[in-house]
Amino acid sequence: LASLPEGYTCRPLQRDDFHNGFLDVLRVLTTVGDISESAFNERYDWLSKRSDEYFLLCIIDGSGGIVGTGALVVERKFIHSLGLVGHIEDIAVAKDQQGKKLGLRIIQALDHIAEQVGCYKVILDCSEANEGFYIKCGYKRAGLEMAHYF
Ligand code: ACO
Repeated sequence: LASLPEGYTCRPLQRDDFHNGFLDVLRVLTTVGDISESAFNERYDWLSKRSDEYFLLCIIDGSGGIVGTGALVVERKFIHSLGLVGHIEDIAVAKDQQGKKLGLRIIQALDHIAEQVGCYKVILDCSEANEGFYIKCGYKRAGLEMAHYF
């Protein structure tokens, strides 16, 4: 695994990350909504009870703020001899921190976890605009996303 820039670290999401800019980083990706601290904590607690299924990582800069994040969800299947499939979700790097290979490091770290827990593949959905980024991360185009919004 390649290293992070000097002063940056990578660690799992923590319960107090409501105060460390986690939701603001996600706002780079999409609408987050107005989430209260208690609602954040409730979701965090739900996720942390499923720590063999949900892996949320944060990149921290020298001042302790979250500047990047990404998630791996491990799906348990019957097919492929009870195979495990990793799903990469919600990758975001703060606007002023993009282009420093933080996104690449997040994907490498999540891929590493997926491999360690025994996933036979990792898949994700992205826009055409992000295809080049994922190609640099070693991914290739496969299939077609369909969605049914409610
Ligand atoms: N198209 C083509 N190449 C790209 C793109 C892009 N959109 N973005 C980055 N790259 C290249 C970089 O130039 C770099 O190439 P190099 O090794 O030749 O220098 C390589 O990919 C790695 O780039 P990073 O510096 O690691 O990218 P960054 O830290 O800026 O993160 C990210 C990329 C996550 C897409 C960031 O721009 C971002 O947060 N965008 C907004 C949110 C978003 O779209 N997230 C992804 C949604 S899809 C999902 O979550 C499954």
